[in-house]
Amino acid sequence: MLILGIETSCDETAASVVKDGTQVLSSSIASSQEVFAELGGVIPEDAARRQLQYMVPVLQQALDEAKLTWKEIDAIAVTRGPGLLGSLLIGTTAARALASVHQLPLIGVHHTLGHLSSVWLGLEHSAPQFPCITLSVSGGHTDIWHRTSHTTGTLLGHTRDDAVGEAFDKGAQLLGLPYPGGPAIAKLAQKGNPLAFEFPLPLAEEQGCDSSFSGLKTALRYLIRDQGEGAATRLPDIAASYERALCAHLVDRLEHALDAHPDTRELHVVGGVSANVTLRAQLEKLCAPLNIVLRAPQKSTYCTDNASMIAAAAFFMHQENPDTATEEFATQSTLSHTEVFRTQQMPAGSL
Ligand code: KG4
Ligand code: ZN
Repeated sequence: MLILGIETSCDETAASVVKDGTQVLSSSIASSQEVFAELGGVIPEDAARRQLQYMVPVLQQALDEAKLTWKEIDAIAVTRGPGLLGSLLIGTTAARALASVHQLPLIGVHHTLGHLSSVWLGLEHSAPQFPCITLSVSGGHTDIWHRTSHTTGTLLGHTRDDAVGEAFDKGAQLLGLPYPGGPAIAKLAQKGNPLAFEFPLPLAEEQGCDSSFSGLKTALRYLIRDQGEGAATRLPDIAASYERALCAHLVDRLEHALDAHPDTRELHVVGGVSANVTLRAQLEKLCAPLNIVLRAPQKSTYCTDNASMIAAAAFFMHQENPDTATEEFATQSTLSHTEVFRTQQMPAGSL
């Protein structure tokens, strides 16, 4: 099944053709990130206006790169939310129009389900096994999911304040590093000693999978203040210790998730922060003795927002629930985690 995915939830305009949920035949993306980085943040109206300009060329490039015509596409998938409303509407309006013109089924996908599906991209031989635990870590999320299929699962915990990506970004700002902070801290940390400075373990007294990163950010601020002028020469050590502390908190939360779900066969890590090498190494250490397979997206471009993951999610939605996958949907800027799996209401509460 050939699905053309469209993703426009933030400042990117992306289209991709994916075969059977795994084989990426093309991926075209236009981003205004550099423009907005200079301005200090995304201006929603400006982002949407740019996406309107990029949409048609990006779609054409996705088809050309895959060497396909509309006649060969079997369905269109599009992010229905959450995200910036104007941006989402560019994507969903284009998708609705194309589905109507080419008489194709249209599948509306929750952006988070796209990220959860991103580990399947590029896999040819080994199919991931359920039940799995998925850690979804980005600038806006720190979620831990228990999943029993592509379209069923429960949210075990989420952050109570900052997301871990935000903690990387705000930490980088305190250290005088550029945005996005995650890659900048990771690069500097390579030259530092991760054991040089001690950070607290957040929510150490609490069982469960919720997380909290604002305390670590405050601890970093005090550390820099206490080091005074000496901080400038210790930046690699500070960055390495801070990165280690952020990762240690995630590992601690995942230990609780795995304790509560001993049937777990795989641990997946997705989203922008899943590109972090230290995090992947710590997760490998967690999984190896438990015989749990660790998986992360195969390419860094599958970690950050992309349209391939939306096409993959749509394929699995259609495979598991062909009748409901193509149901009517609204474009929504706010879309709760209870809507990730459209076919099943999730029980309230953690664990
Ligand atoms: O998923 P994403 O591209 O966008 C959303 O937030 O939806 O994630 C971006 C986040 C940023 O906070 C960025 O600092 C972080 O992912 N990030 C990283 C790394 N690469 C990106 N954090 C740690 N290490 C990295 N290598
Ligand atoms: Zn995202």
